[in-house]
Parts: sequence; C-alpha cells; structure tokens
Amino acid sequence: MTAINPIAIIGTGIAGLSAAQALHAAGHAVQLFDKSRGSGGRMASKRSDVGALDLGAQYFTARDRRFVEVVQQWQTRGWVSEWTPSLYHFDNGQLSASPDEQIRWVGTPRMSAITRAMLGALPVQFSCRITEVFRGEQHWHLQDAEGNSHGPFSHVVVAAPAPQATTLLSSAPKLAGAAASVTMDPTWAVALAFDSPLETKVEGCFVRDNPLDWLARNRSKPGRDTAQDTWVLHASSQWTKQHLDMAKEEVIEQLHGAFAELIGCAVPAPVFSMAHRWLYARPATALQWGALSDADLGLYACGDWCLSGRVEGAWLSGQEAARRLLAHLQ
Ligand code: FAD
Ligand code: NAI
Repeated sequence: MTAINPIAIIGTGIAGLSAAQALHAAGHAVQLFDKSRGSGGRMASKRSDVGALDLGAQYFTARDRRFVEVVQQWQTRGWVSEWTPSLYHFDNGQLSASPDEQIRWVGTPRMSAITRAMLGALPVQFSCRITEVFRGEQHWHLQDAEGNSHGPFSHVVVAAPAPQATTLLSSAPKLAGAAASVTMDPTWAVALAFDSPLETKVEGCFVRDNPLDWLARNRSKPGRDTAQDTWVLHASSQWTKQHLDMAKEEVIEQLHGAFAELIGCAVPAPVFSMAHRWLYARPATALQWGALSDADLGLYACGDWCLSGRVEGAWLSGQEAARRLLAHLQ
C-alpha cells in the first residue's frame, strides 16, 4: 500500500537519507527537513579559505554486508574513495607507525559529497528547525521554530541525535523516554593549515591519554588538492567535557600546542585555523536498538545512537526505520 500523504523525515544526516532513499525506492513520497543550511549533519564538510575541511566524521569502515554493497555502488558512482593514510598511534608519550589492513572510505572530494548525492532531487527544506511533531485526527503535522506548520504527513521519521530527538518524540512517551536515556558526548574539532608542508609522514594518528584523541592530514585524503597543508584535530570526549565553554581561540591554542608536542617535527604558527564544537558527537555507550518505532502511531526514530555511533551504524539504522515502516504498511 502506498501512503497518500508524504512521509516527513527530520534530519538529513546519513541516517535520515538512508531512510529517505529506502522509502522513496519503495514508491513513497518523502519530505525532508533540516535545521542546517545543507545536508550531512556530522558528515558535513566546512568550506573555508583553505578548501573544504572534514571537521566531523573522518572516514568510515564498512563491515555489514549490506553496507559493504552500498559503499561499492557509491565508489562506482565516484561518491567515495579509499583513503590509505600512513597511520600512527600515540601511546605513553610515544609516536609509532601503526599500519593495518583496514579499508577506510571517505567522501570525494569532501565528506559531504555522499549525503549531497544521496539527497539528489528529494524534496527538502533546509534552515528549518522542527520544534514540535504532533498528530491531528489522522495525520501528522510539524511546527518549525519560525512558527510555520508543515503537513499533513502519513508518518514521521525523526533522524536527529538523541537529545534533539527526545522532544520531537513526545507524542510517543516510550520512544521519547528511550531517546532521553541516551547520553551523547561532545567533541571539539580544530582545523589548522600551514603554508609549507609539515615534515612528518603522519597522515592519521590515534591518540591516547592526551587532550587529543585523533588527528589527520586532511590534504592526504583523495581529491583534497589544496595549496596549504591542512590538518584536523579532534579532542577527546573527556577533554572536551572539561573545556566545553572555552573560547574558540583558546581551544585552537591548546590543541595546536598538544599537536605540536606529539607530532615530532617543527610546527609553525598556522596560516589558518578554525574550531567547531560538536555537542552531540557520539553516544557514550553503543546500543543495539536498530531503530525506535511506534508503528500504530506511525512515528519512527533512527540515527547512529540506535546502533554503534558510527557512519555505518547510522546508515543501517535508517534502513531499519524504513524497513519497519514499510512492513507496517503491507
Ligand atoms: P547526524 O549526522 O547528526 O544528522 C542529524 C541531522 O538532524 C543533522 O543534519 C541536524 O542538523 C538535523 N537536526 C537535528 N535536530 C533537528 C531539528 N529539530 N529540526 C531539523 N533538523 C534537525 N563516524 C565514523 O564512522 N568514523 C569516523 O571517523 C567518525 N568521526 C567522527 C568525528 C566527529 C568529530 C563526529 C562528531 C562524529 C564522527 N563520527 C564518525 C560519527 C558519525 O559522524 C555519525 O555516526 C553519523 O554521521 C551520524 O549520522 P546521523 O544521521 O545519525 O546524525
Ligand atoms: P577503525 O577500525 O579505523 O577504528 C576503531 C578503533 O580502533 C580506533 O578508534 C582505534 O582506537 C583503533 N584502531 C584502529 N586502527 C588502528 C591502528 N592502525 N592503530 C591503532 N589503533 C587503531 O574505524 P571504526 O571502527 O569505523 O571507528 C570509527 C572511528 O570514528 C573511531 O576511531 C572512533 O573513535 C571515531 N569516532 C569519533 C567520534 C568523535 O566524536 N570524535 C564519534 C564517532 C566515531
């Protein structure tokens, strides 16, 4: 059966777009909303004077057969490429090479290319923060922060991080309660650019017991042919929580300092720097819910927080929300 009214999807991160694609492929009309100016959520890339920078998700792995297959299709279409960084780890104050066999994927020429391509021509309203999801006699309606209402919709899929999903799920207290029980930890991200390449072989580094927990040479990813040597640094959740309200300039200074101490080569003052705070970067614990649903009401929730806190988990969660919705329509 095809729903007469479109299905509303709140959030154009990979989870929302995964659900949107599955529902669209099954013949249903969808209408997407996002509070941001573009798609991608935590896979968005920031345009800057030194090219596009991946400040959120750095790369992703594909382990589930269904995701492996879809990533292969993305590769054929040119949306993603393998990234084979020269990998290091920093442990006990020691920087060491740490090569492995893991296949790691990135969007090309920037991470946001994936969600942009997935969105294609699907109808979407950007810069539209949904504040309320409510059910009338038979249909769903949405209210946005500007006071506009949208609808009617046959179903609603909430694909926002758990803390933002909680209020949107208030029509189904069980779902709202489940979302409210999920803690999401923050991450400070800093990008730096240098006129001359730093004299190091490091292109990616897992860091332990340090203000940083990851750093990457953004320019080493395929398609990022910038004149400057660009780097992205991620602070650990612990450091971020302790410095949540620190001014951006200070965050840049401190993480630049931590980077300079561990990288093992001279690090000059950057010619460009930027900081971004991800308030809901990752779920504190990995859950195995797949998705949340109240099929009788027609309300669904998906996102990385329902499954593993990674790009793959978010995509699979979107598929699961769509599967449950379609199963109920049959
Ligand atoms: P999101 O991408 O957060 O999408 C949710 C969308 O909902 C957003 O676009 C948001 O604007 C929108 N939204 C929220 N509230 C509303 C509202 N009220 N109205 C309208 N729209 C709304 N994963 C990996 O696999 N590998 C990595 O290397 C990796 N590194 C990461 C590094 C950082 C710093 C961060 C933050 C994340 C990283 N992740 C990584 C995790 C990965 O990015 C996420 O798991 C994945 O992108 C989550 O997708 P999602 O669709 O569930 O949520
Ligand atoms: P993966 O398999 O590359 O990494 C998983 C974990 O294994 C790493 O965090 C690291 O601790 C370890 N590891 C992997 N390869 C290593 C190597 N060569 N040397 C030393 N340690 C190694 O990727 P997966 O499983 O897809 O994980 C995604 C990554 O995204 C993780 O690193 C995770 O921490 C990161 N992430 C970061 C978030 C943030 O807010 N900063 C949010 C969500 C995910």
